[in-house]
Amino acid sequence: MATSDPGFDARALRQVLGAFVTGVTVITTLDEQGRPHGLTANSFSSVSLDPPLILWSQSLTAPSHPVFRVAERFVVNILADDQVEVSNRFARGSSDKFAGCPTVPGLGGVPLIEGCAAYLECRRMDSFPGGDHVVFLGQVDRIERTGRQPLVFGSGRYLVAQPHDLGEPTAVANIARLQAVRLATRALVDLSDELDETLGLGVWGNKGPTIVRWEESSEPVSDNLRTGLVLPVLTSGTGLAFAAWLPRETTAPFIDAEIAEGAPVGEGLPNAQLAEQLALIRANGIVRLVGTDAFSDLYGTSISAASVPVFDQSGAMVLALTAIGSAQRLDLDEASPLVRGLRQCAARLSQRLGGRSPAALASNDPQENA
Ligand SMILES: Cc1cc2nc3c(=O)[nH]c(=O)nc-3n(C[C@H](O)[C@H](O)[C@H](O)COP(=O)(O)O)c2cc1C
Repeated sequence: MATSDPGFDARALRQVLGAFVTGVTVITTLDEQGRPHGLTANSFSSVSLDPPLILWSQSLTAPSHPVFRVAERFVVNILADDQVEVSNRFARGSSDKFAGCPTVPGLGGVPLIEGCAAYLECRRMDSFPGGDHVVFLGQVDRIERTGRQPLVFGSGRYLVAQPHDLGEPTAVANIARLQAVRLATRALVDLSDELDETLGLGVWGNKGPTIVRWEESSEPVSDNLRTGLVLPVLTSGTGLAFAAWLPRETTAPFIDAEIAEGAPVGEGLPNAQLAEQLALIRANGIVRLVGTDAFSDLYGTSISAASVPVFDQSGAMVLALTAIGSAQRLDLDEASPLVRGLRQCAARLSQRLGGRSPAALASNDPQENA
């Protein structure tokens, strides 16, 4: 085939294409012997609603290409934000991709990977040459949307989707929060690399304390750390940080509901002592939870946590940086690298957001000012 020099190289083209952020799919099919095949693909796109048509493209050099070229059916499994491992697994050339990967048979027996955000079960309608790829056009026969949040991919990295929420009248506040999450996400990656601890980034969402980002240590405390995880206010490090620094009117409905549901406030936090406990957290500038069993269903073990606040220009707490780890492993001593690292990271982020440092706010009770 004739080629021409377009004046840019493949690397530059890949970088430009990386600015177009996509979801991540695994396309699955069966070969003529009924063996499953699958590959990670972000070339998926919608084509037509009536009739329902989609497309994706496959490299001619992909080992599974001969199978997809003749397969009559395929499934587009749209990955959820906790399926990075699934994406990596299906992006590697291996004959064993499905081992230990739970699936259910769909139309024609083609496997649907469990835990995805959505599924499109398709019949191959046509295929077209596209340079070093082949474009497959599929007619959609059956669809399913689960409640899971989709995984996102852009600039060669996995990302999580955040609602933009820029509607009036809170546009400025939301842009600021988005900016805070963006800055903190980068800082969290660096801090997790430096400390080798599992770190979470918490925001106050409409369901309460919500983790929007995890960075795992080399010894993950759980393989079930989902973004979008909503935490209790009274028994989680992140929740207690928000309880200490957000205005009482914001947190009170959640705290009241947890107490009404029998939250184990007795676990170091009897209701009558809550105000005192939160004042102590503010004075320390940090939440320390040592050896709590409140999350044993999530982590399977007793864990410890530390959480520090990040403030914006208005002095409002916008983020919580939280470290979690097994109670035996996490060192929450004031002089420990973890506590020092968390404090420094939060102070630097607050500074960049134009806010005051947590230390400067230690004596300031926003609940009294609320
Ligand atoms: C996020 C991501 C997106 C990808 N998208 C495509 C794609 O659209 N088409 C493609 O042929 N390969 C794509 N790949 C690469 C394939 O997943 C990879 O080459 C895989 O090993 C092919 O499977 P096979 O070896 O079983 O043929 C992608 C990889 C990643 C990590």
